[in-house]
Amino acid sequence: MAIAIITGASSGIGEEFARQLHLSEGIDEFWFVARRRDRMEALRDRLGVKAKIITADLATEAGINEVRNALSEEKPEVKYLVNAAGFGNFGTFEELPEDEVVKMIDLNVKALVLITHITIPYMVKGGRIIELGSGSCFTPLPAFNIYASSKSFVLHYTKALNFEIKKHGLRATCFCPGWVETEFLGKATAREGVTAPKSMKPLLSCESVVKRCVRASRRGRAMCVTNWYTKLQHVLFKLVPDPLLSRMWLGMLNKKI
Ligand SMILES: NC(=O)c1ccc[n+]([C@@H]2O[C@H](COP(=O)([O-])OP(=O)(O)OC[C@H]3O[C@@H](n4cnc5c(N)ncnc54)[C@H](OP(=O)(O)O)[C@@H]3O)[C@@H](O)[C@H]2O)c1
Repeated sequence: MAIAIITGASSGIGEEFARQLHLSEGIDEFWFVARRRDRMEALRDRLGVKAKIITADLATEAGINEVRNALSEEKPEVKYLVNAAGFGNFGTFEELPEDEVVKMIDLNVKALVLITHITIPYMVKGGRIIELGSGSCFTPLPAFNIYASSKSFVLHYTKALNFEIKKHGLRATCFCPGWVETEFLGKATAREGVTAPKSMKPLLSCESVVKRCVRASRRGRAMCVTNWYTKLQHVLFKLVPDPLLSRMWLGMLNKKI
């Protein structure tokens, strides 16, 4: 039995991974993990797949334990793990409330690492792990700092993990797309007075970016950067000094610090 575990399956990129892995990777059963059960049930019905639905807040220990317990009870043979649960809020360090800062780190970093850690023992040879990084992970970003820094962690962590698990026939890919059309940006800019960066239109489609990531993951790539401007950013960020990049970024946000 080939199992695919997808966190953040109730929306956006996670949902699209479910659709594409179903179409191309011969998955026998999905495990969908997120908080909105109705959305995951609707996805299961729409795709017509066998799916175990785990309703869990992964920013909490209890939520992680839901997945831990399911793994130890069922001992699945996991072919794919996609850690897509995540969120990011714009705002300077002063503007962001402490609970939001902690939750971003707990979900984007701690949960992602823990879910990977508890799942690897159940992964079969040839198995693939996809960790959601972001195009924002390559440089420090004021007023999006906690999110970008959390994704920067994911990038370094995934590259090293990929190196370590090769000997078991497993591969891990850090997926770094540009701005994608999902619920993400609406939530990220929900606070009053927060605006989205000027440069983020047009948004990429989930279908196109996920297709590239599945291909990169199959090839065992440690990182997958999608679309031309994110690739260009990746190169520019290595050449342009951080303070200058920070000023350009704040200009795009129309924000003065
Ligand atoms: N959209 C972009 O422009 C973009 C670009 C680069 C990287 N990313 C990354 O891609 C990943 C997916 O984001 P998306 O764009 O698809 O956004 P999205 O549509 O908002 O999806 C986020 C997913 O994370 C789940 N989630 C949020 N908080 C959770 C929690 N506490 N416990 C469990 N699940 C939780 C949500 O489900 P529930 O609300 O049902 O729990 C939802 O399924 C994120 O890691 C994001 O950082 C997005």
